[in-house]
Amino acid sequence: MPSRTAFVTGAARGIGAATAARLAEDGCAVAVVDLDPAAAMEAAGKINAAGGTAIGIGCDVSDETQVADAVARTLADLGSLDVLVNNAGVLRDNLLFKMSVDDWDTVMSVHLRGAFLCSRAAQKHMVDNRSGAIVNTSSVSALGNRGQANYAAAKAGIQGLTRTLAMELGPFGIRVNAVAPGFIATEMTAATAERMGVSAADLQAKTAEITPLRRVGTPADIANVVAFLASDDAGFVTGQTLYVDGGRRL
Ligand SMILES: NC(=O)c1ccc[n+]([C@@H]2O[C@H](COP(=O)([O-])OP(=O)(O)OC[C@H]3O[C@@H](n4cnc5c(N)ncnc54)[C@H](O)[C@@H]3O)[C@@H](O)[C@H]2O)c1
Repeated sequence: MPSRTAFVTGAARGIGAATAARLAEDGCAVAVVDLDPAAAMEAAGKINAAGGTAIGIGCDVSDETQVADAVARTLADLGSLDVLVNNAGVLRDNLLFKMSVDDWDTVMSVHLRGAFLCSRAAQKHMVDNRSGAIVNTSSVSALGNRGQANYAAAKAGIQGLTRTLAMELGPFGIRVNAVAPGFIATEMTAATAERMGVSAADLQAKTAEITPLRRVGTPADIANVVAFLASDDAGFVTGQTLYVDGGRRL
């Protein structure tokens, strides 16, 4: 029987799917939570086929009731909730003068409201247990990125949320950290390439050229760091944002 249970949002694909799979390898039962229920079920099926334990749950992380139901289902089916990974995300890039209120609100809702709602729902159980780990997903864009006023603000907000929750929840044995990925090859960055009118391969190659490690990241690069922050090996680490970007900010 898995010893810990992880709740990973946006886990049907990309970084979230890699994180769910990695946590399952590390011995967690995993709730694969995603807006797309069929894709969540499929990703959970792959983990189960590989010998892990996972359930797929359809859930919009920006919806309070759906989050409460997803957490309740996790507790009912998997018995516990020890690790929360707030990973679900969307892009609605535009320069400020073209950015609609909907572009702004959608990004804030999924990233910030979603992380708030999932953290608030999960902490109840973690506080009762006097133990838990939350890993949030920021981005190098938190430092500012042209065309991403909404996303940069949300990802910077995630860092403030991380530090604050670390202060509030630390006394209950709950650690809260964040990863801030650089360019990771996923459908999200492929869609960015398409919007820019270049191929995903070209955008990756150009990004690799200006990255000290001379490559872009893979979902596994982020999953490995999330797994560390969620593990007991990071038992004295809290309130931190770890940039995982191949040295891109140097
Ligand atoms: N790919 C990168 O280069 C990169 C860089 C920095 C940060 N990030 C962040 O990492 C996270 C994952 O990115 P990715 O590249 O794997 O993205 P992705 O687009 O490949 O996957 C995102 C997943 O989130 C799900 N999702 C979207 N809205 C949701 C909602 N309201 N409720 C539940 N699930 C929802 C999608 O269905 C999808 O499965 C995001 O928070 C993203 O902002 C990505």
